Amino acid sequence: MINKAIILAGGTGSRLRPLTDVVCKQLLPVYDKPMLHYPLGTLMLLGIRDILIISTPKDLPSIQENLGDGSELGVSIQYKVQDTPQGLPEAFILGEEFINGQPICLILGDNILYWGQLNLVWNECLSLSKGAYVVGAHTREPEQFGVIERDKNNNVISIEEKPSIPKSNIAAIGLYFYDDQVVQHAKSLSPSTRGELEITDLNNIYLKNKELRAKILSRGTTWLDAGTITSLMDASTFFKIIEDRQGLKICCIEEVAYNMGYISKKQLLKLALNFEGSSYGRYLEQRVTDTLNR
Ligand code: DAU
Repeated sequence: MINKAIILAGGTGSRLRPLTDVVCKQLLPVYDKPMLHYPLGTLMLLGIRDILIISTPKDLPSIQENLGDGSELGVSIQYKVQDTPQGLPEAFILGEEFINGQPICLILGDNILYWGQLNLVWNECLSLSKGAYVVGAHTREPEQFGVIERDKNNNVISIEEKPSIPKSNIAAIGLYFYDDQVVQHAKSLSPSTRGELEITDLNNIYLKNKELRAKILSRGTTWLDAGTITSLMDASTFFKIIEDRQGLKICCIEEVAYNMGYISKKQLLKLALNFEGSSYGRYLEQRVTDTLNR
C-alpha cells in the first residue's frame, strides 16, 4: 500500500515571469489558495500523510514557511532542495532516504486535479505492490506532454515524450505511482537531449519489463496544468465557478485534514484563527458547525 508521496515543486517557472520573479510558481494563487495546496490536498484525500516536498534553494524556504512540518494538518511534511532542475526522476534520487525502499507516489506541484469519487478511482493505484501506474487524461494538445498509447484493457503499448506525431490524445499527467524499484531505475537513467532525466524514460523501463499500467481519467475528472498564464487564469476561473456555486471549497487543506479525521474540531478552530478577518477563516469556522455539508 502506498502511504508516502513526493511533491516536486521546483523548476524555474520561466513561462510565468515576471510573476515568478516575485513568488515561486507553486505558491501563485489558483483562485483562493496557493497552487501547491491542490496537489497537497489531493494527497491528503488519498490518505497519504507522509510527504516530501522538493523545490529550489530559492523557493523552498517560502514553501516551508507556508506549510511547516505539516503537524497542524495532521500530516508529516519534510523538505529537500533540488539545486538545479535535472529532471523529474531526480525526485527519487533526492528522496531515496525518505522513500526508504517503499512504494511511492509522485505528484507535480503545478498539476491540479478535480475529481468525483477520489478513493474509489485510486484504490487500485494505491494498493500497487509491483510495477507502476501512469495516469492519463484526454487532451487537445498531446504533443506538449508524455503521450500514452494503450490497449482496450489499459495496458500501455507505448509512452513517448512530446512526440511530433502523437499516437493518441492521452497525456501523462503529473501523477505517478511506483513500486520499490523506482530509485534503482531512476539511478540507471542518462540525461536526454534536453539535458534532463526523463520520467518517460523511467516509465519505459517499467514498460519494457511489462510492469506499466495506465489509469485514464474519466470525463467527470478534470486535470488542469497551471504552467502558463492562460492555464493559470483558467484554473482560477474553474475553481471560482465551482466554489461559488456550491459554497464548498476544493482542496482547502485545513478542511480536508478535518474531514479526513487528521485533526480535531479544536485544532480546526485554532487554524481558522490564523485566517481571522478573511472569508477563508470564516469558512473554516463554519466547517465545525455545518456538520450536514461535510
Ligand atoms: O505535466 C505533465 C508532464 O510533465 C508530462 O506529460 C511529461 O511526460 C513530463 O515530462 C513533464 O513534462 P514537462 O517537461 O513539460 O515538465 P516541466 O519541465 O514543465 O516540469 C514539470 C514541473 O516539475 C514544473 O512545475 C517544474 C517541476 N520540475 C521540473 C524539472 C525538470 C522540477 O521541480 N524539477 C525538475 O528538475
